[in-house]
Amino acid sequence: MSASRVTIVEVGPRDGLQNEAAAVPTDVKVAFVDALSAAGLPVIEATAFVSPKAIPQLADGDEVFRRIAKRPGVRYPVLVPNEKGLDRAEASGAREIAVFTAASETFNRKNINASIDESFARFAPVIRRARTAGMRVRGYVSCVFGCPYEGAIPPPSAARVARRLIDAGCDEVSLGDTIGVGVPTQVPEVVECCVDAGVPLSRLALHFHDTRGTALANVAEGLRQGVRIFDSSAGGLGGCPYAPGAAGNVATEDLLYLLHGMGYETGVDLSLVAAATRALSGAIARRPASRVYQALESARGPRPV
Ligand code: HMG
Ligand code: MG
Repeated sequence: MSASRVTIVEVGPRDGLQNEAAAVPTDVKVAFVDALSAAGLPVIEATAFVSPKAIPQLADGDEVFRRIAKRPGVRYPVLVPNEKGLDRAEASGAREIAVFTAASETFNRKNINASIDESFARFAPVIRRARTAGMRVRGYVSCVFGCPYEGAIPPPSAARVARRLIDAGCDEVSLGDTIGVGVPTQVPEVVECCVDAGVPLSRLALHFHDTRGTALANVAEGLRQGVRIFDSSAGGLGGCPYAPGAAGNVATEDLLYLLHGMGYETGVDLSLVAAATRALSGAIARRPASRVYQALESARGPRPV
């Protein structure tokens, strides 16, 4: 892959919607994923097969996954916490999963009711089965810079968990700034620590939430470090119900504006991502946070009444 090519992993339909207060109808979710596919996004995390008690918003994940149009060449991973989730993923026809753990023991306990060691024990059979079935597996490490319960997390703690995910069979590891506390000087620290721990740079993704407005600056620093996979959500939706106060992911529109302006290629049409956000925005109870989306909306002028 050329050094100027960046892969965007669109997580709006999962990370974005999981934290929305208003129940979003299944039809709207399906249309949202289809619109994101039409925008040229190469990877779209379509939903989560977690406990519906933990995340009621995504309880309809099975139906959403079955109904979305699967564009050739587009990957549609789903978030899976355990073997039950993998059963649902397989039954729905998913070809790619994402497992998730954290660099913080307390966050993991709140999020998935497991210690870090227990989480690995829980998804070892999930990864084994998925790989045997020919599925691709992504692993998330949450709280790589900080935890809402434990405070600052030392980079080696995040790197240890990232390496364990690779050793467990993950194809790719996404480092999550779950609560959006990281600043650019911390990005090389954690990336270098992961690479030193044996995680290949080409298999590292960065996943920034934008709680304090540092996400795009962190992306720019990640690019300087050679990272070429970034997670984002259309409109800047998102957050984690188990990370109090955490805002949405860096917005896909804002990320695209930055990347294209800096000369990187993504294959994604920014105006079509904004159209997907616009179509969804009526179903969520707030204005999408994306600055670029807002600028595009202003340029369109007032909506007809
Ligand atoms: P638990 O209560 O310890 O597990 O939850 P359990 O196995 O005892 O199950 C409890 C109930 O849930 C049972 O139902 C199970 O059948 C059911 P009951 O018998 O009480 O009626 N259940 C399921 N149902 C459907 N699908 C499943 C499933 N599993 C169990 N897969 C568990 C443990 C992990 C299941 C739960 O805590 C959970 O689902 N947590 C998910 C929380 C979550 O989705 N958080 C947000 C995603 S992570 C994130 O956003 C961070 C990330 O974006 C990166 C970053 O930003 O850092 C990835
Ligand atoms: Mg997240």
